[in-house]
Amino acid sequence: MSLFNVYQLFDITPVKAKDVFVYDENGTQYLDLYGGHAVISIGHSHPTYVKNISEQVAKLGFYSNSIQNPLQVKLATELVKQSTCKDYQLFLCNSGAEANENALKLASFHTNKKKVISFTNSFHGRTSAAVAATDNTKIVAPINAQQEVEFFDLGDLESVEKALIKEDVCAVIIECIQGVGGLDESTTEFYKGLEALCRKYKTVLIADEVQSGFGRTGDFFAFQKHKITPDIISIAKGMGNGFPIGGILIHPTIKASYGLLGTTFGGNHLACVACLTVLEVLEKENLLENARMISEYFIEKAAVIPEIKKIKGRGLMLGIEFDFPIAALRKELIFKHHIFTGSAKNPNLLRILPPLTIKKEHVDQFFDALKNELSNVITNVVK
Ligand SMILES: Cc1ncc(COP(=O)(O)O)c(C=O)c1O
Repeated sequence: MSLFNVYQLFDITPVKAKDVFVYDENGTQYLDLYGGHAVISIGHSHPTYVKNISEQVAKLGFYSNSIQNPLQVKLATELVKQSTCKDYQLFLCNSGAEANENALKLASFHTNKKKVISFTNSFHGRTSAAVAATDNTKIVAPINAQQEVEFFDLGDLESVEKALIKEDVCAVIIECIQGVGGLDESTTEFYKGLEALCRKYKTVLIADEVQSGFGRTGDFFAFQKHKITPDIISIAKGMGNGFPIGGILIHPTIKASYGLLGTTFGGNHLACVACLTVLEVLEKENLLENARMISEYFIEKAAVIPEIKKIKGRGLMLGIEFDFPIAALRKELIFKHHIFTGSAKNPNLLRILPPLTIKKEHVDQFFDALKNELSNVITNVVK
């Protein structure tokens, strides 16, 4: 059977990985500044992660949500401690799209409304309501297009209010720093304004922290910089360091009832241990502080490169923008310099999403390679 051909693949086959490095079948070492799309938080094959998951799978890998699972309770407790998001309730699932799907569904149950407000260049996943709230018509099938979603530009509070005033909107969903869209972030005034409007018109504010959460921006959640209190926070990616797990934090104003949400695999024993280990290592190794420190170092180095027109993002969720498309540069970085980086909807933006364990020497390695390639690009243009 052939594979359903939906991914444009780089011809590289990783067979093992350690911390910030990935190795292919020939033993070639790659510096991972992509983190498998912002997923690797505590580093590949972290020894505590390997130990804890191995021990758990030898004991009990999975049982359904029909029994007591104290690991879920422990996870909720740890999450409150580290995120400082008190009083929320936790529902666990398996991916970012599923987290947003549940968030939107819950918002609709809670308000008994069905329209959604989302933003230009947003990405919230590929399932039903999540993809409808994603600003990319290419991935919205007719079956998804039946969802009623209105898109506004980041910062445009006036249009948001004009839509909310009709009182038919169940949720406003937003990434405080956009990921796939290209790392745009609006002002604190905007996010606070959005929060106030949601309260005024009884609409659920959903912060999509699938990519930006779990310390990636140097804060536990990206929205915390703006001091807002979302009604629902969706999480995934870095939460499991590669083990599939997602979830939503739900404000106490939204009440649970039996059967309202549900899942077979969500919150299983292995997934909980993966996430508990991520939280343990984030704290023990001071990885949020490392994210802030390395980010500063990266930005300092990027600022003196004239070809870089803009540095975007926060923490280790960064983008550098050029005045040319980066596809060829990204290929050279992979195949010649053995460095993985990411792309974005904006074709001129190179994305940097490394494990939060990255050190200055790895940043130096990247900038040496980048400078080398930029001098080649310029030479080729002159030719
Ligand atoms: C902000 C955001 N939300 C949701 C998703 C979807 O997550 P998943 O691919 O785990 O379904 C992504 C994935 O890139 C994302 O960046």
